[in-house]
Amino acid sequence: MTPEQILHTFLDHHHRRGHRDAPESTLVPPPGDPVLFTTSGMHPLTPYLEGRPHPGGRRLVNVQRCLRTTDLDEVGDRTHLTVFDMLGSWSLGDYGIAESLRWGHELLVDGFGLDPGRLHATVFGGDDQVGPDETAWRTWTELGVPVEETGDDNWWSNGPTGPCGPDSEIFVWTGDGPPTGTPGTDDRWTEVWNHVQMRHHRHPDGRLTTLPQPNIDTGMGLERLEMVLRGDRSVYEGAGLRPWVDAVGDRWPLDEVSLRVVCDHLRSAVVVLGDGVRPSATGRGYVLRRLVRRALTVLWRDDPSRTLTDLPPGLSGDTLRRFRQRGDIAALRDVLADEERRFRGLVGRGRPIVARLRSRGPLGDADYRWLHDTHGLPRDLVDGLLGGAG
Ligand code: ALA
Repeated sequence: MTPEQILHTFLDHHHRRGHRDAPESTLVPPPGDPVLFTTSGMHPLTPYLEGRPHPGGRRLVNVQRCLRTTDLDEVGDRTHLTVFDMLGSWSLGDYGIAESLRWGHELLVDGFGLDPGRLHATVFGGDDQVGPDETAWRTWTELGVPVEETGDDNWWSNGPTGPCGPDSEIFVWTGDGPPTGTPGTDDRWTEVWNHVQMRHHRHPDGRLTTLPQPNIDTGMGLERLEMVLRGDRSVYEGAGLRPWVDAVGDRWPLDEVSLRVVCDHLRSAVVVLGDGVRPSATGRGYVLRRLVRRALTVLWRDDPSRTLTDLPPGLSGDTLRRFRQRGDIAALRDVLADEERRFRGLVGRGRPIVARLRSRGPLGDADYRWLHDTHGLPRDLVDGLLGGAG
């Protein structure tokens, strides 16, 4: 299945069950919002999960581009991306978890054709404030899907405070041969879909109160689902990432993890740029800068003459289109070229400074602090490119 077919199947399944389309937001939340980026489909819907009536009604569905920097260090593995599309569905005080899981199972098995014997679920086992999720447990058992109970791993929140609740995650077996173990014991179980019961609100003192209405919030990563449905080894073989892997891999010989990091970060930078963010020293612009600089750091490790301007312009256009963005590709390339120039300047200035320090012995914490505070040279750059760790 192509991403377009997956999206169509997902939306159609929900439309036929009374869900209306919720508008997609950009990656940039509105002013006053405490988070830097939209990190999940539920984020723009927070006021409605907290009780405000939504103009689209009580059953919603959409696709939302998301950015998660919490996963930055996991990028390079089979399944984590910084920017991805999340397929989401919501019940705003309407149906409950049993319906959500049953419909979800139906979609995975009948809509997407997954073998039900390759599914496993996890549910919240309870803690000192909230009891075990017996409804989800019973529902999975009735559906014949094996279930594992966990603690914190099955509690979802979008931050330290705000709406949150127990969740039930659906995993698909992606190993060779028949499934073995559980999601907790074998990482060949790949998580694809999370169904959260958004019933609680976490206050700054840690207290939980009940939301005015019990909601369901589900999210499924499109790239990951595509990987599972195609039987690919990683998300980098899917339609959105493949052009990056081909273009970067053709130009520069990189090991697998480095290739993945470069492709993920550059593709994410394009999407962030597409939503109007520009590189800077703080906030969103700094996240963008870090993505570009991390990619360049990997590229320049073997050959500092490598330049992003060697990549075909069509790559950015394809990515913007896939994320339903419009953008001036020429302007976007100029911003990337300018950012690369600045970084090249910083690296050039930093190299003799680090070399001087290193000639006196290994760098200590005070050296790293000084390099950062006085010369704007972060530790990962000092160690990664300037010979600090050598
Ligand atoms: N908000 C939930 C998640 O992002 C569905 O996993």
